[in-house]
Amino acid sequence: MNALFDQPIERRGTGCAKWSRYDEDVLPMWVADMDFAAPPPVIEALRERLEHPVLGYARPQARLFRAIQDYLADAYGWIVEREAIVFLPGVEPGFNMALKGLLAPGDGVVLENPVYAPLLAAPAHWGLRRQDVDLISAEQGWFSDIPKLEAALDDAAALLLCNPQNPTGKSYTREELERIASLCVQRDVVVIADEIHCDLVLDGRAHTPIASLGPEIASRSVTLMSASKTYNVAGMKAAFAIIPSPVVRERFQASRLGMVDSVNALGLEVALAAYTQCSEWRQKLTAYLAENRDHLATRLAREIPDIVLRPAEASFLAWLDCSALALDGSPQAFFLENARVGLSSGADFGVAYGNYVRLNYGCPRALLDEGIDRMVSSLLRR
Ligand SMILES: Cc1ncc(COP(=O)(O)O)c(C=O)c1O
Repeated sequence: MNALFDQPIERRGTGCAKWSRYDEDVLPMWVADMDFAAPPPVIEALRERLEHPVLGYARPQARLFRAIQDYLADAYGWIVEREAIVFLPGVEPGFNMALKGLLAPGDGVVLENPVYAPLLAAPAHWGLRRQDVDLISAEQGWFSDIPKLEAALDDAAALLLCNPQNPTGKSYTREELERIASLCVQRDVVVIADEIHCDLVLDGRAHTPIASLGPEIASRSVTLMSASKTYNVAGMKAAFAIIPSPVVRERFQASRLGMVDSVNALGLEVALAAYTQCSEWRQKLTAYLAENRDHLATRLAREIPDIVLRPAEASFLAWLDCSALALDGSPQAFFLENARVGLSSGADFGVAYGNYVRLNYGCPRALLDEGIDRMVSSLLRR
């Protein structure tokens, strides 16, 4: 029994988005939110903050800037000036601000597909031209299609990169990122890097922030991070951008336009505790997630071999190719109706992915097994 992660926690009735979207009999395995308790030091930090009864507008304190600088230096060898860190209520507002502030209507934005739906949706909010380039699926995982990426970047002003990648779980290697960074530098393309899943790389891999590769790429970059995915505190609404160039930063800040507010007072406390006191918890979490990933892969290979699953290198999301099941409708609709499992629909992640579903395995193993059992029996019954 894993004391931190094996125990299912009842989340219904807490206003939880994940468990209130579907009927009561549906097991939700969709949104990127884990069914684990936040780390004990995070809960303790919230308790302590609530000892003080005034909850007015908050500003990040010097010790939080310091904590993030130290964490970036320790985890990635990335030295960042305090001024480069800009706090935000979320990563999604961050990539939208970057697109709005750094590009002009009609500019091209390149995205490797499949990718997180709000990233796909963002260019259209600002009159930008989206250029999709499909990742290549291979036995070992997912890879950039470099010739196509190059061609798309020739006609673009920005690359919207998701690393680690949602939904494939790809963690770009340093070499891959060096290649991509040099393509962007050569073409004077801005890189907006959504790195929200960065602390969830599995199997002892190292995450590399693309902007940490050198001053040329740093000066044209906006990197977005948050404690929200790793420590399962997405509802606390605290994220940050790292923008080394003062010029880029000014344009980014100018795009708040009265729509992007300051950060939640409690979210800032959570971030401080997460970055200073939870590294052991995080190591235990990534070990548990890797076991869940392997358990899922083993069971699917044995019990639903028609589902194709590439090995994930990060996070808690499995990207399942259900094409060979030859279902009548979308696999998301099939499993919702027949298995009572709520998965994310592949079509949301790119036009070519209607035969995929995304399954969130950030849950106690018993729940994961329940989800797999339901999927297996729904297929036996059909
Ligand atoms: C890649 C990616 N970016 C951004 C977000 C959302 O971040 P936030 O809640 O901070 O806006 C998610 C949430 O699932 C995500 O997976």
